[in-house]
Amino acid sequence: MQTLTIRRPDDMHLHLRDGAMLQGVLPETARHFARAIIMPNLVPPVVTGADAAAYRDRILAALPAGAVFEPLMTLYLTEDTKADDVAAAHASGLVKAVKLYPAGATTNSHGGVRDLSRVMHVLEKMADIGLPLCTHGEVTTPEVDIFDREAVFIDTVLDPLRRRLPELRVVMEHITTSQGADYAATGGANLAATITTHHLVINRNHMLVGGIRPHYYCLPVAKRESHRLALRKAATSGKPCYFLGTDSAPHVDALKEHACGCAGCFTATNTMAILAQVFEDDGALGQLEGFAATHGAAFYGLPPNAGTLQLDRRETAQAFPEKIITGAGPVTVFDPGFPVYWHVAG
Ligand code: NCD
Ligand code: ZN
Repeated sequence: MQTLTIRRPDDMHLHLRDGAMLQGVLPETARHFARAIIMPNLVPPVVTGADAAAYRDRILAALPAGAVFEPLMTLYLTEDTKADDVAAAHASGLVKAVKLYPAGATTNSHGGVRDLSRVMHVLEKMADIGLPLCTHGEVTTPEVDIFDREAVFIDTVLDPLRRRLPELRVVMEHITTSQGADYAATGGANLAATITTHHLVINRNHMLVGGIRPHYYCLPVAKRESHRLALRKAATSGKPCYFLGTDSAPHVDALKEHACGCAGCFTATNTMAILAQVFEDDGALGQLEGFAATHGAAFYGLPPNAGTLQLDRRETAQAFPEKIITGAGPVTVFDPGFPVYWHVAG
């Protein structure tokens, strides 16, 4: 049996929600990951340092007994965000990033930013203190086709912003295009991109051919195959500007399997096993640790995790639960659609 031991991974983009859903999904992440960048798009969103401190306490209280897991908190940028509050939350060590949701771009983003010029003073402060901005990189202009929204965001929002504020550290969250992968590699030490597990696995055909498959619907939406291949190449390249952010985004089945279904793939349960299979299939198992454990920590200036994660390659394909049952309702686990021989030990 082949085994692979890597440093314990970090998930640099994770949705944990709150209440019964938090209670249900947190053990799935804490089982394998040491830390995660926690997305702030609750209802209402995590806007102030005080909101983030209270949410961190709720996450820690929901951890199973004996679990060791550190939530890395973020703030949801609004046009009313106070630069001093952001700076204080960063100085105390509580907050590791600020999240830009263009208003209306995705789940719970209606309170996001409409006009970037109205938050420029906050971004300038963040550039001064070295606090990263995580971008949901899609324009929301109705005229722009949903499959083009990431590429248009890079050209019309992100690149002008980075020219204006070159010192601002930016994480392009959940990139889905070759344009995203190419742009992330041009930015030097102040620019990086997270890549999800599911965008390494599915293209838009998986979602739309032979019937609509709502559990593959997420935002940014999966693109055509050439983009998936560009993401595979980026993730397995060993370049430090690319790292894992699963964007595991639980919604109960009733809201996924719906006339107007929610966006999000729930991958926390089987992400590490799927990634091992993906990296093996691409002849890049040696790059898995960088992608899932060390590149992200380095970008965020965090010490590498001391613990390890062991993966074993089995003779037979491994079964994952089809759903997890939470107090909020059942949540379907992402189905990669191919056999996964890797199993996370322990
Ligand atoms: C996320 C969610 O459900 O909160 N959905 C998703 O499809 N990824 C929001 C997001 O990250 O866009
Ligand atoms: Zn997300």
